[in-house]
Amino acid sequence: VDLRALNTFGFAARAERFVRAQSLDMLQQAVVLARTEGWPLLLLGGGSNLVLRERIPGLVVQVALKGRAVRVEGDSVLATVAAGESWHDTVAWSLQQGYFGLENLALIPGTVGAAPMQNIGAYGVELEERFHELRALDIETGEICRFSRADCAFGYRDSLFKSRQPGRYVILDVTFALSCRPEPVLRYRALAEELQRRGIEQPTPQDVFDAVCSVRRSKLPDPALIGNAGSFFKNPVVTAAQYRSLRTAFPDLVAFEAGQDYKLAAGWLIDRCGWKGHRQGAVGVYPHQALVLVNEGEGCASELLRLADAITDSVRERFGVELEMEPRVYPARQGRIIKRLFA
Ligand code: EPU
Repeated sequence: VDLRALNTFGFAARAERFVRAQSLDMLQQAVVLARTEGWPLLLLGGGSNLVLRERIPGLVVQVALKGRAVRVEGDSVLATVAAGESWHDTVAWSLQQGYFGLENLALIPGTVGAAPMQNIGAYGVELEERFHELRALDIETGEICRFSRADCAFGYRDSLFKSRQPGRYVILDVTFALSCRPEPVLRYRALAEELQRRGIEQPTPQDVFDAVCSVRRSKLPDPALIGNAGSFFKNPVVTAAQYRSLRTAFPDLVAFEAGQDYKLAAGWLIDRCGWKGHRQGAVGVYPHQALVLVNEGEGCASELLRLADAITDSVRERFGVELEMEPRVYPARQGRIIKRLFA
């Protein structure tokens, strides 16, 4: 099966075996089968945070569970959404119902089940702030477990499911804590500026949604048109001391406080190394946002990873800062790490 349409980079990847799980029963059967046969298992949501290599061994399961249910108590709303629902459609749906809180996260590609994996965040809100609980299938025991916010160990683009227990759980549905009372979050500068530009002083959640959509469309390529996975690198976190010495050397460095530490704008670092708009075969750096790598057509994972390595190397040389990739490479690669150990 060709997975080209199932990953937002649009890489041609051949899966040895593939199943689209539209029910919990199908999903459980597929997981048990992979376990008994000893097949490597890849669970796929929207494929929007993934770099797929050419050959995918074992079994690929697309989680296509659908459905939404709501409990309203006074002003608070608990909305439970199945993992296979589209993230953006869910945000739009919640707004139409008059359930507020997800509007800053409009237009993020991918599915609801993938959202907690890397604790998606944008324009001043992270998923964990709207999270109530989730249910997941434990691949090792076959049991269905509930996870509270604390259980998920959310961090910046991180969770239990991504780093501590990768591959152990299949997220089945997510329950969000929303509100019938609008409480717009306007702390992200680009968002506040866009609302100001539109002459809106008391924005409604719909205004926030519209503004976020338009800022995103101006900076980020639509994966339906140009292959990409959003931000390709995380914004690196450095200590206050590192930040101060970088700031002395580069006075226009863009950074944000993150507790005691500082988060550097990776887009700025990459931009400063001259990569913006750079093209290398079929892959390149998006001309409007240096943090986004794109596949303009027939590119492949190895071509993209070569470009990513070249960017990482140049940022390290110039700023002494190590960039970390945001999307997952599958099957995972080992060569690069070994090279670093001996470098
Ligand atoms: N910048 C440059 N050149 C560039 C890009 C950025 O100089 O080419 C500087 C600008 O000064 C800009 C600053 O970097 O003001 C920050 O850029 P931006 O506001 O576009 O946000 P970001 O840090 O690049 C992060 C998230 C995005 C999220 C936006 C908005 C990460 C890795 N990325 O990007 O998330 O949408 O903030 O909240 O945290 C994603 O994860 O896929 C993603 C798109």
